[in-house]
Amino acid sequence: MQIRNFKSVLPLLLFTTVLFADGDPQLSVTIGSRLFDATAGEELYKSSCQGCHMPDGKGAQGAGMYPSLVKNVRLMSAKATVETVTNGLRGMPAFREYLEDAQIVEVVNYVRTNFGNNFKDVASVSDIPK
Ligand code: HEC
Repeated sequence: MQIRNFKSVLPLLLFTTVLFADGDPQLSVTIGSRLFDATAGEELYKSSCQGCHMPDGKGAQGAGMYPSLVKNVRLMSAKATVETVTNGLRGMPAFREYLEDAQIVEVVNYVRTNFGNNFKDVASVSDIPK
């Protein structure tokens, strides 16, 4: 288990149960009845986000402007960040068609607790806009 992955779920640990499967290095977290895969957020970031926001989250400037997610106060609202990923925002594609609700929440929780961000509240599927 990578420390980074563990850190990304620390806020969840305050009020959730951590299950270590036997011999399985993956860390899973239960919120209510839903099982969240703590490593999924990082995997989703790599597959869906880093192409534009870069592996270090610092974004890029070139043909387009891809904002840095590093220490970004605009991620302060869990709900607004979920909305951005769900519906897109100008040059940012909407992920509603490509990701499950739980996956959107996982990747949002990942970016809000990595890249120098340390927001304590946790996004949930109830933040997904209708
Ligand atoms: C095709 C390129 C692209 C991909 C892929 C992409 N984004 Fe973005 N993202 C953008 C652009 C461009 C913006 C700026 C939108 C604007 O404000 O006009 C943005 C904005 C954002 C913002 C708001 C940041 C701010 O300062 O306003 C967040 C949060 C965000 N993206 C997260 C993600 C996450 C999480 C993923 C993966 C699920 C992702 N993005 C995938 C291009 C992308």
